Amino acid sequence: MIEIKTQEEIKNMKLACRAVAAALADIAERIRPGISTLDIDKMAAASLEKSDAKPAFLGYRGYPAVACVSVNEQVIHGIPKADKIIEEGDLVSVDLGAIVNGFYGDAALTIGVGKIKPEDKILLETTKRSLDEALKKAKAGARLGDISNAVEKTAASKNLGVIREFSGHGIGRKLHEEPSIPNFGVPGTGPVLRNGMTLAIEPMLSLGSEEVKFLKDGWTVVTTDGSNSAHFEHTVLIKEGECEILTAL
Ligand code: MF3
Ligand code: CO
Repeated sequence: MIEIKTQEEIKNMKLACRAVAAALADIAERIRPGISTLDIDKMAAASLEKSDAKPAFLGYRGYPAVACVSVNEQVIHGIPKADKIIEEGDLVSVDLGAIVNGFYGDAALTIGVGKIKPEDKILLETTKRSLDEALKKAKAGARLGDISNAVEKTAASKNLGVIREFSGHGIGRKLHEEPSIPNFGVPGTGPVLRNGMTLAIEPMLSLGSEEVKFLKDGWTVVTTDGSNSAHFEHTVLIKEGECEILTAL
């Protein structure tokens, strides 16, 4: 069942979502060559604390950090490390979740560090746009497949791969709730979206292969062909008409 949130629950989700958005904005501003992915994790932790929010990922199924920081061919769930140093030209995906009064917010973005390759710029722009197109479909009365298809179509328009093994999700009382939101699908199919549903929509696209594998750390997901990838995510509230982006700053 897809949960409908009350006003009170949405109020708490907004606090969690704003904490995530503020932390990501802070990281986007401060990221530069020479810092480590662990430095980014520390920024995320400090920023959440300032917002009186708790990290949602730390300890989730044993995940060992506050943020997921995934560089280049790493798609998602990169574990921050002191010896993973950011370089000019890198694509750095930062995924962050927070909890306030028991309610969750979840968002991600990919940052191009300094001067990046033209194809990487297309990858970033298109992945971001695939999220924007999905958000346009996310409204009461639409179907879940409309969202999924919007991502797939946008990716296809630039010949980008869709990472199919991972999906977006309902969110609120838990980090992952129903429904699962694939980044490909058929419009006009799937559950009808209703006022008060809260969803985390998160396209993951690559310049090459759609296939992924786990690194030996058991977490980090990388493209099998080593091609670069990007990931953008927002937590949204379904309404009549336009959705409300809860993780927008
Ligand atoms: N944003 C990711 C998701 O929606 C959360 C990563 S889960 C964790 O699935 F295990 F890394 F915490
Ligand atoms: Co998510």
